[in-house]
Amino acid sequence: MASNHWHFARPKLAQAYLGSFNLGLSSARGLFARRRMGKTEFLKQDFIPAAEADGYVTIYANLWEMRSAPATALVAAFFQAIEPKGFHKLLQKLKPSVKKLKATGKIAGMAEATLETELHDDANLPAGSMLMDAMRAFDHTSIKVIMIIDEAQVLAQESNADFAHALRAALDIRKDRIKVLFAGSSEATLRKMFGKPSEPFYNWAALEPFDLLGHDFVTAMVEKVADVTKFPLALEDALRAFDELKRTPEFFRRYLDRYLTMPFDGAAAALEHTKSHVFNDVSFQQQWQGMLPADRAILSLIAAGNADPYGKDSKEKIALALGLGKAVANNTVQNALRRLSDQTILTKIDRATYQFEDEAFADWLKNLHE
Ligand SMILES: Nc1ncnc2c1ncn2[C@@H]1O[C@H](COP(=O)(O)OP(=O)(O)OP(=O)(O)O)[C@@H](O)[C@H]1O
Ligand SMILES: [Mg+2]
Repeated sequence: MASNHWHFARPKLAQAYLGSFNLGLSSARGLFARRRMGKTEFLKQDFIPAAEADGYVTIYANLWEMRSAPATALVAAFFQAIEPKGFHKLLQKLKPSVKKLKATGKIAGMAEATLETELHDDANLPAGSMLMDAMRAFDHTSIKVIMIIDEAQVLAQESNADFAHALRAALDIRKDRIKVLFAGSSEATLRKMFGKPSEPFYNWAALEPFDLLGHDFVTAMVEKVADVTKFPLALEDALRAFDELKRTPEFFRRYLDRYLTMPFDGAAAALEHTKSHVFNDVSFQQQWQGMLPADRAILSLIAAGNADPYGKDSKEKIALALGLGKAVANNTVQNALRRLSDQTILTKIDRATYQFEDEAFADWLKNLHE
């Protein structure tokens, strides 16, 4: 069965976004929600098809997938959508700095090729001029475009400031024909991006929470389960599982998978299995293994609810974890926090308050220490 079968379509939500663009009420909007809540799935499976049916050409770029060269990712997506020839030219220009090209998608071919993350550090350098090329190509068309920038918080990074300014300027003068939908998982970073006067996208897009999936989603999933198995799932059990999995669609889908593979074990066992699996996620394990001791120490403190990493108590605990006799310097804490913010593991709320981007990672960590 097509995996699409399990997609819970959200046509009304797609039309709501589209409507605001069509009415000219706004030319840019931003949405945010925690990780794994269904933003990307909504954008790709509901919003993009609706926009295309409405006559828009859509450009989708996930900046997180290409975080070493987000500008290149965006420009490449732009060319792919409006002028494949331009995309070829872009590839030529980039050739020296591209180590690896990967073909993705159903049709393996250049038009479907995406640049992988393995670019040299200088790969972003000509991005400003490539953006100009792309915009010039666009100006020769009469199409209307919706640009979807997923994991947009990457644009707020210091290292991408020049590109962000260039992008903003290019989009500013094309508001009639290029609409922008930003999405991301870091509310704090997005708020700063659109709300701080010194930021390139200041006051540029209305930012609002993404409408989360709720009981109607669970109900629809329960109906799909009944379609494919002789062991229907009780709505009550499903709703309880959804709540216990923090109303996270991705975890709920895993729970359904487990239930469907082991129907004899029942709903409660599927929930237990899913919860323990979520806490033992290998990707968390790998991420954790690859971290420096100071970073780990700070994450453990924050996961345990210790909010101020610069506090005396924190600095002593970090020292202990590092095997040092006396409290570490502010500097050590600062560097670790910077590394963790750059990797979008932590978000800064204010000077001394940091929060996990991914609650599931924090939970996993709490569990590790118990
Ligand atoms: N509308 C939906 N119908 C069915 N399942 C869904 C739906 N939306 C999300 N899911 C499930 O949740 C998973 C995570 O969704 P998605 O990747 O869209 O989240 P996200 O908010 O973009 O997360 P991230 O911030 O980590 O990128 C999907 O892979 C899918 O299993
Ligand atoms: Mg996503």
